[in-house]
Amino acid sequence: MNRPLSIGIIGAGMAGQAHAFGFRNAMMATAPDVTVRLRAIADPNLALAESVAARYGFEHAIGDIDELIGSDVDVISVALPNFLHSDVLPRVLASGKHVFAEKPIGRTLAESTRLESQASASTATTGVGFSFRRLPALAALQQAVADGRIGDVHTVRTWYYADYAADPQGALSWRYSQEQSGGGALLDIGAHAIDTLQFVAGEVTRVLNCTLRTEIGERPLPTRGAIGHGASTSTETGPVTNDDIALLTLELQNGAVGHVELSRIAHGVPNSLGIEVFGTRGHAQFESITAGEFHIFEASDDGVLNGPRRVFAGPQHPYFSDVAAMPGAGVGTGYAEAFVAEIQEFLRCISDGRRMDTDFAAASRMMRVVDAALRANSSNSAIDIDS
Ligand SMILES: NC(=O)c1ccc[n+]([C@@H]2O[C@H](COP(=O)([O-])OP(=O)(O)OC[C@H]3O[C@@H](n4cnc5c(N)ncnc54)[C@H](O)[C@@H]3O)[C@@H](O)[C@H]2O)c1
Repeated sequence: MNRPLSIGIIGAGMAGQAHAFGFRNAMMATAPDVTVRLRAIADPNLALAESVAARYGFEHAIGDIDELIGSDVDVISVALPNFLHSDVLPRVLASGKHVFAEKPIGRTLAESTRLESQASASTATTGVGFSFRRLPALAALQQAVADGRIGDVHTVRTWYYADYAADPQGALSWRYSQEQSGGGALLDIGAHAIDTLQFVAGEVTRVLNCTLRTEIGERPLPTRGAIGHGASTSTETGPVTNDDIALLTLELQNGAVGHVELSRIAHGVPNSLGIEVFGTRGHAQFESITAGEFHIFEASDDGVLNGPRRVFAGPQHPYFSDVAAMPGAGVGTGYAEAFVAEIQEFLRCISDGRRMDTDFAAASRMMRVVDAALRANSSNSAIDIDS
C-alpha cells in the first residue's frame, strides 16, 4: 500500500480509547507496507474527544459523528454504547469505509445478522473487537488444541469474572439496561467468553440451560454522561434490567459439553477471562490475569512426569513478535498488547484483501449463542442454535 490508511474513531469512551491506543501502537506493525495516519476522534462529548485525540496523537477531534462518516478517511472504528451500533454501523458500511466495530455489533441476533448481511454485500473489510483472541498465549493454546495435542475435546469451561458492577453505588449507565445493552454480564463480558469457547473448542449447537441473576436491582442515576464504569451519581435511583450473573451449559458440534460462568459483581476479581479445556489425551488452561503464559498437560504412556507444563508466550507464538517490548519469552504480554495485535491484524487484512477471522459473521456466531441463552432462560428449556 503506497499511502497511509487514514483512521477515524467514533466513540471516545473506554473502548474508543483502547482503539486509539491500538492504532497508535499498530504503527510498529511488522507488515512494512501498512502505515497509518491518525486523523480524527468523533464523539458528541467534544471535550472528551479532544482529550483523547491529544493523548493518542490524532490530528483533530469532531463533535459530529456524521461529519467523520462523510469525510475521506479510509477506516472507521466504532466504539459506542450497544444501542447505537445498529444505527451508526449501517451508515459507516454504506460509506464504503473499512470498519472495525466493538462487540456486540447489535443488541439482538436480528440486528447482528442484518449488519452481517450488509457487510458481506460490501467490499469493506470488517473486524470486531474480540481482543482476547490476540493474546499470544491464548492464541498458542488454541493452536495446540487444533493440532490435537490434547486429543479430542470433550469438556470446556470458560469464564469471565469482573467486579466493575460489584459496588451497588455504581452509576446506572446504559450497561444496566436490557433495552440499551442487549444483555448484562451475559453479553457485555459473555461476548468474549463465548467467542473464546468457540475459538478454542468449536461451534456451539445447543444451549442446554441458562441461569441469569440480578443481584443489585437498583442503582443511582448518573448526573453526567456515564463513561466506562465510573460517573458521578445523583440521589435518584433507577432499576437494573439485565443480569449481573449468567451461567450457561452448552453442547458443541463435536459432541463436547461446555460451561460458561459470567459475573460482573465478582468482588476482588477485577478482570479475568479464562478457559479450561479437556480432551482424550490432555488438557490446557489459560487465564488473562496471567496472560503471558498458559498451561498444558499432554498425557504420556508411563505418566511418570505427570502434571501440566507452564508455557511462557514467546516469539514462536502468534502475535508475540508484533507486540512484545522485547524479543524473548517471559517479557509478558497482556490486555494492552491484545488491543494492538487486533488492530494490526485488521490493518493487515485490509492490506491483503483478506477476511478477518473476527469479522461481522463471527460476531453473529457469538450472538446466536446469546440469543439461544436468553430463550433458554425464559422458556426454562434447552434451545438449539439457529444456524
Ligand atoms: N473489546 C473490549 O474489551 C471492550 C471493552 C469495553 C467496551 N467494549 C464495547 O465498546 C462499546 C463502548 O463501550 P465503552 O465501555 O467504551 O462505553 P462508554 O460508556 O465508556 O463510552 C461510550 C462513548 O459513546 C459516546 N456516546 C455517543 N453517543 C452517546 C449516547 N447517545 N449515549 C451515551 N454515550 C454516547 C459517549 O460520549 C462515550 O464517549 C460497547 O459496545 C462495549 O461492549 C468492548
